Amino acid sequence: MRQTELIDNLIIDVFKNSRDNFVSGQTLSNKIKVSRAAVWKHIEGLRKRGYVIDSIPSKGYRLVEIPDRMSPDEIKGSIKTGIIGKDLLFFDEVDSTNDIAMDSGAKGAAEGLVVLAEGQSHGKGRMGRTWVSPKYVNLYVSILLRPDISPPHAPVLTMMAALATAQAITDVTGLETMIKWPNDILVDRKKVSGILTEMNAEQERINYVVIGIGINVNMKNGDFPENLRMPATSLLGCTGKRVDRMNLLCTLIETLERDYEDLRNKGVMSIFERWCKRCDILGRHINVSLQGEVITGVAEDFTPEGGLIIRLDWRKKRVIYAGDVSII
Ligand code: BTN
Repeated sequence: MRQTELIDNLIIDVFKNSRDNFVSGQTLSNKIKVSRAAVWKHIEGLRKRGYVIDSIPSKGYRLVEIPDRMSPDEIKGSIKTGIIGKDLLFFDEVDSTNDIAMDSGAKGAAEGLVVLAEGQSHGKGRMGRTWVSPKYVNLYVSILLRPDISPPHAPVLTMMAALATAQAITDVTGLETMIKWPNDILVDRKKVSGILTEMNAEQERINYVVIGIGINVNMKNGDFPENLRMPATSLLGCTGKRVDRMNLLCTLIETLERDYEDLRNKGVMSIFERWCKRCDILGRHINVSLQGEVITGVAEDFTPEGGLIIRLDWRKKRVIYAGDVSII
């Protein structure tokens, strides 16, 4: 361990032992056996690393918040999967984890590559939207797969990811999750997660697919932009407690791998049937906005390709594959 890191850790230990009390610069200097100027330099360094440290001239310093950083080594050590997560690319900030995973796919990266970032400067959402991606609070993860399925069946991969994400959130937090067609994960009717799948395919076969999953984990409700298409929240907003992102990530990857094995061994219907049970719109009157057009009808059924069958009137039905649904 480097000298700076060693001293930083000693300072943090002193703070932890003093619970919520202020510790004077002199006490830190005596305990750690460095000058007061060095204490000040290390406090500034810790602040730059995301530690929130109060200081009051007459009282000294007090540790208020420890940053929540993920460590790629810890992640690699914790994931117990055979395919997904065998290779991991970890970044402090990227434009979009999906872009990195698509590039890796084009360069021949193996199936199962996970691209993870603490923040994204150009996080991508569905239908050309932006995915708000502040650093160190949420999960932004993209998974590269090379599935042996035909392009028309590709939407089942998004269904699989939605199922795994909903299940992982429930397993880690105890929250009840719903899937809103086509692939939003909701808690209490508010969006906590979204999925963006991109693929490189030929007419007959898929070369590679990237499944990008964003989960609002510890973002404060006040930090969401006001102009969002639908109400959004985070797991912190729902539970009132910070959620361990590493634990959620590992649970997600393990759940996804189990579902991927199901898909490969039992086929598309094994995912489709479970996905249908988690969607709550069948039988409801809905509006769907689709490239400037609004379709109104009753959500009647899904097709195994992920299409939504809408009954427009007693004679007419329409199948759509994308759009924003709102329940009337
Ligand atoms: C949606 O619009 O609901 C889909 C959001 C998908 C966001 C994730 S975050 C990780 C990955 N990288 C991106 O740029 N987008 C996806």
